[in-house]
Amino acid sequence: MRIFTKLSAPLCLLFVFLCLKTAFSSSIHASSFSTTHLCSHEEALALLQFKTSFSINYTIPYPYYCVESYSKIESWKEGTDCCSWDGVSCDNVTGHVIALNLSCSFLYGTFPSNSTLFFLRNLQSLNLSLNDFRLSKIPSEISQFTRLKHLDVSFSRFSSQVPGEIAHLPKLVSLNLSNDPYSDSSDLILETAILKNLVHNLSEVRELVLSGVNMTSVNPRFFMNLSSSLTTLDLWESALRGNFPDSIFCFQNLKKFYLSGNRNLTIDLPNSNWSSPLQRLYLGDMDCGKRLRESVGDLKSLQFLRLGCNLEGSIPASIGNLSQLTYLRISSNNLSGQIPTSLANLTQLTSLDLSDNQFSGPILASICNLRQLTSLDLYFNKFSRQIPSSLANLTQLTYLSLFHNQFSSPIPASIGNLRQLTILVLYSNNFSGQIPPSLANLTQLTLLDLSHNQFSGPIPASIGNLRQLTSLVLHSNNLSGQIPSSLANLTQLTSLDLSNNQFSGPIPASIGSLRQLTSLYLDSNNLSGQIPSSLAKLTQLTPLELSNNQFSGPIPASIVPDMFLALQNLEILDLSHNNLIRKIPNCLPKSLSVLNLQANYFDGNIAFGFPEGCGLRNLNLHGNQMDGLLPRSLVNCRMLEVLDVGNNNISDTFPHWLESLPHLQVLVLRSNKFHGSVQSKKESPSFPKLRVLDLSSNYFVGALPVRYIENFNAMMDPHKDGGSPEYMMVSTRTNYYQYSLVVTWKGFEYELQKILTVFSSIHLSNNMFEGEIPDVMGKLSSLKGLNLSHNNLTGHIPLSLGNLTNLECQSGRKMRKARRLVQRRS
Ligand SMILES: *[C@@H]1O[C@H](CO)[C@@H](O)[C@H](O)[C@H]1NC(C)=O
Ligand SMILES: *[C@@H]1O[C@H](CO)[C@@H](O)[C@H](O)[C@H]1NC(C)=O
Ligand SMILES: *[C@@H]1O[C@H](CO)[C@@H](O)[C@H](O)[C@H]1NC(C)=O
Ligand SMILES: *[C@@H]1O[C@H](CO)[C@@H](O)[C@H](O)[C@H]1NC(C)=O
Ligand SMILES: *[C@@H]1O[C@H](CO)[C@@H](O)[C@H](O)[C@H]1NC(C)=O
Ligand SMILES: *[C@@H]1O[C@H](CO)[C@@H](O)[C@H](O)[C@H]1NC(C)=O
Ligand SMILES: *[C@@H]1O[C@H](CO)[C@@H](O)[C@H](O)[C@H]1NC(C)=O
Ligand SMILES: *[C@@H]1O[C@H](CO)[C@@H](O)[C@H](O)[C@H]1NC(C)=O
Ligand SMILES: *[C@@H]1O[C@H](CO)[C@@H](O)[C@H](O)[C@H]1NC(C)=O
Ligand SMILES: *[C@@H]1O[C@H](CO)[C@@H](O)[C@H](O)[C@H]1NC(C)=O
Ligand SMILES: *[C@@H]1O[C@H](CO)[C@@H](O)[C@H](O)[C@H]1NC(C)=O
Ligand SMILES: *[C@@H]1O[C@H](CO)[C@@H](O)[C@H](O)[C@H]1NC(C)=O
Repeated sequence: MRIFTKLSAPLCLLFVFLCLKTAFSSSIHASSFSTTHLCSHEEALALLQFKTSFSINYTIPYPYYCVESYSKIESWKEGTDCCSWDGVSCDNVTGHVIALNLSCSFLYGTFPSNSTLFFLRNLQSLNLSLNDFRLSKIPSEISQFTRLKHLDVSFSRFSSQVPGEIAHLPKLVSLNLSNDPYSDSSDLILETAILKNLVHNLSEVRELVLSGVNMTSVNPRFFMNLSSSLTTLDLWESALRGNFPDSIFCFQNLKKFYLSGNRNLTIDLPNSNWSSPLQRLYLGDMDCGKRLRESVGDLKSLQFLRLGCNLEGSIPASIGNLSQLTYLRISSNNLSGQIPTSLANLTQLTSLDLSDNQFSGPILASICNLRQLTSLDLYFNKFSRQIPSSLANLTQLTYLSLFHNQFSSPIPASIGNLRQLTILVLYSNNFSGQIPPSLANLTQLTLLDLSHNQFSGPIPASIGNLRQLTSLVLHSNNLSGQIPSSLANLTQLTSLDLSNNQFSGPIPASIGSLRQLTSLYLDSNNLSGQIPSSLAKLTQLTPLELSNNQFSGPIPASIVPDMFLALQNLEILDLSHNNLIRKIPNCLPKSLSVLNLQANYFDGNIAFGFPEGCGLRNLNLHGNQMDGLLPRSLVNCRMLEVLDVGNNNISDTFPHWLESLPHLQVLVLRSNKFHGSVQSKKESPSFPKLRVLDLSSNYFVGALPVRYIENFNAMMDPHKDGGSPEYMMVSTRTNYYQYSLVVTWKGFEYELQKILTVFSSIHLSNNMFEGEIPDVMGKLSSLKGLNLSHNNLTGHIPLSLGNLTNLECQSGRKMRKARRLVQRRS
């Protein structure tokens, strides 16, 4: 075969054919090619050979675009008429294969440049989209299909340069090269010279789809040479830069124009006489001059309009002329002012999105004209006043999102009419009054978020009707009364957040029915009674936040010994600031990152055995009545960042054995019965990350711990101020948790609700340290707090302390029964 490599490709292929023909013929039944076959023997063989170039792979990247669940080429069998094969169409007079549609055929393999496909010279339509050609180049042999009118190789994982030969298909009417711009691997790149030829030669082209093709080198001016018969131009996310000529809007047949996602591209919207027949115009995530002009009202055929391109000023009233609009999305601009009343004329709208602008004023009552609306997004604006009750006439709404505005007053009870609603998001407004019981009519709801408002009164018991609910988020309101036991009927719930309200009474034991729950936030309320042991049934929980309540009695682990083991996915357990008593459980779930039992009445010794590989990052037992020793197994928690056992009765020596923990930043032993010397015995680096050390009010003796101080590298780094502050937090697999820390200053305790990652302090007061203050102290240049008072120190205050220029009075909030700031991923 090597002899032929210098021959022209067609000849070479023909030779391949002859060989194949012989090869196949011997295995094919004599009668199988009957004269009734429309398809020629040669073309059948070409297709069969093509088939063998690929494997069929059902896990290729884009199957979700396809309805097919089998490969079309599976039906391709020798001895049958190829014109009857799936995806193959023939000219019914000549019998030539004229169209091949192998879209979604699960073809997997590199595309051979000598493919027998190129033998099908009569092809007019070729669709290879949604296969996986494993980053092959588009073969330049494609130019052999001189009759091709339709070519679609979209989402088929071709890569590298698009060959210049693509411009040698003069009959093309539609060309689709779209590609996934976010794919793992290299781009499909279209060079400016090739595009220039392409645009010039394709005199018949009507649809040109190049979305996701990297055209970063292309001069957008060349697109103006496209045929005036162009109806579709799709250049979505194609890395175009510079100015796109606005004369595109003069194309007399252009119906669909997509330019979104070219972040460094500008297009100026015309000032006047904008008479194009555009039906779909997408200009999002790019730039389109500053203002939206009245001329937009000229586009009377528009059905879909997306503008997200740094627009300023207001929406012109002429928008009301676009009476065909079904989709209007003007989100993410800087538009301001009121919504023009004419918007209410767009009665065909099904989706309206004005989010992320500066719009103000009330929602027009006339919005109720938009009877077809299924989706309404007004979030991130400055809309105010009450929601008009006429909104209730939008009975097709499935999605309503008004968060981050200034809406006030109660929600109208008529909201109960919106029976199709699945998502209702109203957080961060000033809504007040009670949660209307009519909400219980919205039985399709899956997400209800009313957080950060002024809602008061109880949760209506009828909430138990919302059986589809997966997220119920009511935190940071003034809600009160008991948690209704009907919540237990919401068995689809995965997330329940009632924190930072004034709920009282016990947690209903029936909460154990919510088996799907992955997060439960009831912190910062006035809840009381025992923590119900039925919580042990919520085995999917990752955060369990019950802090800042009045829960009392022992925690159920001492009633139900394996409770916490049952919660085997728990990442965050926060029971701080309650009135819980007795022993703390001694078995902890392996998944735990944060255990906060601060400010309760737990007693007994810390009985945890921390296993090898313990993943704990924050252990806070501050303010209890625990005694005994610190468990030595803590050293297994190599991830530990914060250890706070202050204000207990622990009687132990200084935990030198923690000095090798690589991430420990905060060590608080204050107000216990720690005793003995704190001198380091080792030369090796110790406490490499420590920034906060509080040993005050213990019984430590001897000299100040010079050798440790010498090694506190994290306190020697003079962090420059400026930049946004960073706070210490734990980011677990599924949650965020922000640390808080109790610090003392001038005899008062303060709770720093956020610990700055640059905060550092040393408190050694109220011990029996003696001797001199070492010079080395002056090296801890980032110290913000230093207290050595009430010891038995002698000698001079070293001059080097003058170098501690960061020392300051700590600001912090007076310790109170306050909500810790917890941020969540939702
Ligand atoms: C099937 O395709 C996937 C994704 O492209 C690839 O990772 C996998 O190796 C392929 N399987 C076979 C058997 O070729
Ligand atoms: C030829 O095929 C086309 C479809 O490709 C069909 O519409 C037409 O009726 C056929 N003509 C004859 C004569 O069979
Ligand atoms: C090509 O095949 C795909 C997938 O089977 C199908 O969705 C599409 O309608 C076909 N195109 C034509 C023009 O028949
Ligand atoms: C195509 O070329 C490859 C080598 O590049 C060769 O292995 C293969 O047999 C050729 N296929 C055909 C059909 O000629
Ligand atoms: C486009 O291709 C160029 C090289 O031609 C590359 O530097 C650039 O990162 C690519 N852009 C995108 C968005 O992929
Ligand atoms: C846009 O341009 C800026 C600088 O001019 C560049 O840093 C950025 O990567 C470009 N973005 C894209 C998407 O091309
Ligand atoms: C809106 O419709 C009303 C009547 O239905 C009409 O009077 C008004 O001019 C229209 N406004 C716009 C901007 O189209
Ligand atoms: C809502 O629709 C009802 C009838 O369906 C009508 O009586 C009422 O006036 C409408 N409300 C508004 C504010 O238009
Ligand atoms: C809720 O539904 C009940 C019964 O279907 C009905 O009586 C009540 O008027 C509805 N409330 C609202 C606000 O739609
Ligand atoms: C909860 O469900 C039970 C039985 O499924 C039913 O008796 C009760 O009325 C329901 N409660 C609410 C508020 O839906
Ligand atoms: C303080 O130190 C002196 C000697 O330096 C010693 O006599 C005295 O007992 C110490 N006081 C206390 C309270 O330890
Ligand atoms: C204090 O800072 C000055 C200048 O930054 C330096 O020369 C001096 O050595 C420092 N003193 C100590 C004790 O670190």
